[in-house]
Amino acid sequence: MKGSLLYEGKAKKVYSLVGEEYELILEYKDEATAFNGKKHQTFRGKGRLNNLISAHVFSYLKLAGIPTHFIQTLSDTEQLVKQSQIIPLEVVVRNVAAGSMTRRLGLEEGTVLPQPVVEFYYKSDELDDPFLNDEHARLLAKVDQSDLEKIKASALKINRHLQVMFSEIELRLIDFKLEFGRLYDGSIVLSDEISPDTCRLWDQDTNRKMDKDVFRNDIEDLVEIYEIILKRLEAIVHV
Ligand code: C5P
Repeated sequence: MKGSLLYEGKAKKVYSLVGEEYELILEYKDEATAFNGKKHQTFRGKGRLNNLISAHVFSYLKLAGIPTHFIQTLSDTEQLVKQSQIIPLEVVVRNVAAGSMTRRLGLEEGTVLPQPVVEFYYKSDELDDPFLNDEHARLLAKVDQSDLEKIKASALKINRHLQVMFSEIELRLIDFKLEFGRLYDGSIVLSDEISPDTCRLWDQDTNRKMDKDVFRNDIEDLVEIYEIILKRLEAIVHV
């Protein structure tokens, strides 16, 4: 049974579970935000799409042997996860230059990177999620270098699996953001969500943008695009 509301973020609510100390319920909301909450809109059906897309992606990764917090979906907008202490880092992996990387480094959007780049940002709305080097990450996220190395290696492994998965549904994985959490036993697992809110996905043939950039830059209808992604994932992954 759903317990009390523990936390409400921009896109999700987190509830406790009565009688289950180590499990939580994530409820996905119909909200889309961009530019650290400065742009905001409600899209009917978005919560369902993010919940189900993320459930498919986590199921795929679980089968590939990646430790994750995901247990199962409970309804169209809810999923059951293992409770973890979120490490306050946004771990971004990039295969192709886009977004903040083009602005910061002057690379042209679409430049294929010779090898994937892993970046850390500090999860802080107040500070606008600043870019961190390893020393900053150790200082602010209270992780040691061996944890950071494990997180980087895991992010790169996840990237390899996701590139294969998205290419099976005719999408190029440009970049994405991951979050990791610590379970009660101290082990680090993949947490949060993976969806078109947290990835850049371009059509393999046309480079059409199939992710939250359609909302950020007012390109196309977000719900229609996310529906296409869910349908394609349902054809290749069983939850
Ligand atoms: O904005 P930037 O280019 O740094 O984003 C890199 C990737 O991380 C994009 O796929 C974006 O959707 C994702 N991201 C995210 N949440 C953030 C910042 C970035 O999911 N707070």
